[in-house]
Amino acid sequence: MDKRNHIVVAIDGPAGAGKSTVAKLVARRLSLLYIDSGAMYRAVAWKALTTKTDISDARIVAELARQMKIELAPADRGARVFADGKEITHLIREPEVTEASSRIATIGAVREVLVRQQQEMGRTRGVAMEGRDIGTVVFPDTPFKFYLDASSRERARRRKNDLERAGHNVELEDLEREVVARDRRDMTRAVGPLRKVEDALVIDTTAMSIEQVVEVIVEHVHTIRKEAMKE
Ligand code: DC
Repeated sequence: MDKRNHIVVAIDGPAGAGKSTVAKLVARRLSLLYIDSGAMYRAVAWKALTTKTDISDARIVAELARQMKIELAPADRGARVFADGKEITHLIREPEVTEASSRIATIGAVREVLVRQQQEMGRTRGVAMEGRDIGTVVFPDTPFKFYLDASSRERARRRKNDLERAGHNVELEDLEREVVARDRRDMTRAVGPLRKVEDALVIDTTAMSIEQVVEVIVEHVHTIRKEAMKE
């Protein structure tokens, strides 16, 4: 393994800021493994829903998270997701799972389990990981921290496009309301809340193309590495 490539690029931000698309492309450009940490929260939520577990019971949901095996397998278009050997790549994108994942993400003991697994993934190889607490909690020591943002209207619009492609038709206003509610939950929870850290580069993607955002990140990573080499 090339030591120079053992870096962790942390990409945080609210839902719909473009993290997934951007993180996948950044990973490809920098030869890193792409990891979608949100898929892990979704996998736990999916398991809870399919086993009819009461998601308001923190203790039981945490136990479920502890016992299940979540696997993220690199694939052409991102990553395939498995829960205890069953492929759930598409199932975890269903609206009920989205809603439930945001709720179970407030459970401290669930976060502990998943954060440990995420740290392990970055221990042996370079990764580009996207989520809400990657730069703050999972890899606070990485110098490569990014925070992607966009207006709530634009994020709702992007979400509407995604959902339409998956065959769901939802009103833009309803989606914007959901996006705002999810932001509030993500930002105000007691553990691992979504927040900007001082050493993260904040990028407002509202009026930017995917390619432009990727370019800004890759350039910034190169700049930091060059500076580190000079020292
Ligand atoms: O990124 P996403 O929308 O697929 O994430 C699903 C939920 O999981 C979302 O409500 C926020 C939460 N999440 C989190 O709390 N911490 C992370 N590192 C990633 C996602």
